[in-house]
Amino acid sequence: MSTEKAAEVDQTIRARRTEKVLADEALPPVSARGVIDELVAVAGWAPFHKPAARVHLQDGGLTSIVPWRFHLLDADGCRALRQALLARGDKSKVPRMLGAASALVQATWLPNPPRGEIDGLFEATVDNMEIVAAAGAAVQNLLLAATARGIRNYWASGGALRDPDAFGWMGIPEREILLGSLFFFPADTGDAEVSGGSHRDRRGAPAEWSRWVDLRLPAPGS
Ligand SMILES: Cc1cc2nc3c(=O)[nH]c(=O)nc-3n(C[C@H](O)[C@H](O)[C@H](O)COP(=O)(O)O)c2cc1C
Repeated sequence: MSTEKAAEVDQTIRARRTEKVLADEALPPVSARGVIDELVAVAGWAPFHKPAARVHLQDGGLTSIVPWRFHLLDADGCRALRQALLARGDKSKVPRMLGAASALVQATWLPNPPRGEIDGLFEATVDNMEIVAAAGAAVQNLLLAATARGIRNYWASGGALRDPDAFGWMGIPEREILLGSLFFFPADTGDAEVSGGSHRDRRGAPAEWSRWVDLRLPAPGS
């Protein structure tokens, strides 16, 4: 890769930032289907260690061995989902963001079926950790591809979008676990409020979260 290309990649990574667009009144839906398909196609080049458990390949019509799934909702869908959440009395930021979004991607990861009784959402195994990691890499790819195209984006935990109702409305199989609700916003959102990530400038310098290792090996023969 040339130095200029590397600089462009670096610039895209640095430019990615959380942008939450909050509209009190729904904005006219702006279709982003074509570009979202482009982002998804490139995001799929994330690394993954092992094929997803077979049970997931028979669920919901998606048959790839990759251990993540992306469920895509266009701008019209975002407005309809907003209405459904408002009708349920949802007063969170989610309906306000659905009122501005040009697309929502529900990114899920595919846990291995537990081998016995579990306490919690999934079994705490290295395999499951690696599945989450691979799905996270795919999500980051998606956000970087959006950033490179000037599309504002936001990775949210999801709030009500994590509920079984929301999964049902979107046809997401129950055994998938939401890794993030990814919002994409159009360039022009009028006077809608825009807010950033609260930890954006708190990450510190690389020396605060990385170190070169000084090996402390056992003495030969010990
Ligand atoms: C897995 C994950 C979940 C997140 N969920 C939320 C969320 O629910 N609400 C929120 O305000 N920000 C959420 N964020 C965004 C972070 O707040 C944001 O990434 C952080 O403040 C750093 O800002 P930056 O993305 O602009 O670098 C989430 C980020 C990740 C990776």
